[in-house]
Amino acid sequence: MASKLTVNGKAVSVDVPDDTPLLWAIRDELDMKGTKFGCGIGMCGACTVHVNGQAQRSCITPISAVKGKDITTIEGLGGEHPLQKAWIAAQTPQCGYCQSGQIMQAASLLATNAAPSDSEIEAAMNGNLCRCMAYTRIKKAIKLAVDATGGTQNA
Ligand code: FES
Ligand code: FES
Repeated sequence: MASKLTVNGKAVSVDVPDDTPLLWAIRDELDMKGTKFGCGIGMCGACTVHVNGQAQRSCITPISAVKGKDITTIEGLGGEHPLQKAWIAAQTPQCGYCQSGQIMQAASLLATNAAPSDSEIEAAMNGNLCRCMAYTRIKKAIKLAVDATGGTQNA
């Protein structure tokens, strides 16, 4: 049965079974490849998107759970988001695979806490794994974005 939702501000209808993971709908039905598949069991964060503004693992979110909801993917940040600029300035990615999820997780943090402390950043980003161990640069980039927005960013 078709599910209607909003993705990056656009109303879409996805005709997949209700138990289809949101991640597959985004990648295969809507052809947006920025959101990545890592573990498939909600443990790595590579698939992180926003559901009504909250970071959520799309690999374990059935499409039936997001009917009528607002989804934002990495494409929805538009490339000019302060975090994306900071990521480039800090040369954060290594292989890059985890980075969409990292940025979406960080964007969710800054939306509710525009000037997080080090420990708040660490707590918020704790579940997003990076096999390249780019954690220091990820944290640096988040702090750069906070500095660039004067702690007023609401993503
Ligand atoms: S692919 Fe979704 S948490 Fe790892
Ligand atoms: S940059 Fe390679 S997995 Fe994070």
